[in-house]
Amino acid sequence: MDSIVVTGGGELQGEIPIAGAKNACLTLMPATLLSEEPLTLTNAPRLSDIKTMTELLASLGAEAKSLQNGQVLAMSSHDLTSAHADYDIVRKMRASNLVLGPLLARFGHAEVSLPGGCAIGARPMDLHIHGLEAMGAEIELRDGYLHAKAPKGLKGAVYEMNFASVGATENIMMAATLAKGTTVLKNAAREPEIVDLATCLRAMGAQIDGDGTSEITIQGVDRLHGATHPVVTDRIELGTYMLAPAIAGGEVECIGGRIELVGAFCEKLDAAGIHVEETKRGLKVARRNGRVSAVDVTTEPFPGFPTDLQAQMMAMLCTADGTSVLEEKIFENRFMHAPELVRMGADIEVHGGHATVRGVDKLKGAPVMATDLRASVSLILAGLAAEGETVVNRVYHLDRGYEKVVRKLSSVGARIERIKE
Ligand code: UD1
Repeated sequence: MDSIVVTGGGELQGEIPIAGAKNACLTLMPATLLSEEPLTLTNAPRLSDIKTMTELLASLGAEAKSLQNGQVLAMSSHDLTSAHADYDIVRKMRASNLVLGPLLARFGHAEVSLPGGCAIGARPMDLHIHGLEAMGAEIELRDGYLHAKAPKGLKGAVYEMNFASVGATENIMMAATLAKGTTVLKNAAREPEIVDLATCLRAMGAQIDGDGTSEITIQGVDRLHGATHPVVTDRIELGTYMLAPAIAGGEVECIGGRIELVGAFCEKLDAAGIHVEETKRGLKVARRNGRVSAVDVTTEPFPGFPTDLQAQMMAMLCTADGTSVLEEKIFENRFMHAPELVRMGADIEVHGGHATVRGVDKLKGAPVMATDLRASVSLILAGLAAEGETVVNRVYHLDRGYEKVVRKLSSVGARIERIKE
């Protein structure tokens, strides 16, 4: 298995281009299942999760061609042959469950494997299921698969989620585009990836209002047509690279970055003493002098502080002046990076959903283990300012969500390399 070696010390200077959003692309790809006509995505990120979704779509009979070095995905669901999303693919990536709504809307039935738990928590699908049931679907769990059918077709409904789930909002919104009548989804997720999906679905002929607010209204139409859509900027990759100069010192411009994608995160950077400036091309981040200040962080659905940036933020706070408390409110088991950071000399105590981080002067390089996608990158960030060498093992997690991480960080002066095995 490959590893990444980071040698700490030295400020960062330069610019890093931010890719299209993994999480947006993973929900835009299943949208192709809703139409017989082609859907083309531009600004697609080059990641192993995208390959897994391509594999899943292919298993259903859809075509997904990767063009222009992977940045364009040309898809067609003209000749779908199956509505069965197999466990062997679904277990690799939870976002596979996003084919449920589109398959049900297009075929009137679908069998989608339940993905099972993952390292960061149980991640059930009850909200996806109840939302689709409210629209007339009958869903049964058998042999580890959700067997869903809508013999009379899906019907518009009013459904209020008890938690603003991103995936459930996406599945229900996609299914509702082809349902009969109007669906009103209350307490919907407001993430930029939801707005991006709605924008793409509108380009395909869907009638959707209210995306970006907590009430989304979808007027069903008979059919959707083809479209070409650019994937929104990856706000999590953006936040991750904004933290690189915040941790290592120096100044980095993140090309394509926009404040509205990372508002709550920028407020915390500001409170920690990191300078963020909007430029014509993106966001410029600088840490010019001294230690960062401790700040408390609570993860919340958008527009709150994203859970997907909690691990990276913790890496920065390890060497802050003072004590920070991080509260994780989205996933129950998302502090696996803490013991690895402790191996590098951090002072962190985890109690349930809270982590108390007492800032130390310096971290020290160590061999560490990546446990999930965001945890992996937090260890790389920590390594940028640690004394000596940090070796991050199990880096296949990183390939799921960060394209060219070694190239991007070394282009701004980081000493980082991938060791192949
Ligand atoms: C998406 C993102 C993920 C991010 C998360 C929260 C993708 C591909 N992944 O995941 O990177 O960390 O949003 O911002 O876009 N829940 C239920 N029942 C459900 C659905 C969810 O209880 O039916 C719970 C989950 O267990 C979790 C919380 O709701 O505790 C958030 O989940 P959700 O918003 O659905 O996240 P995902 O769509 O899985």
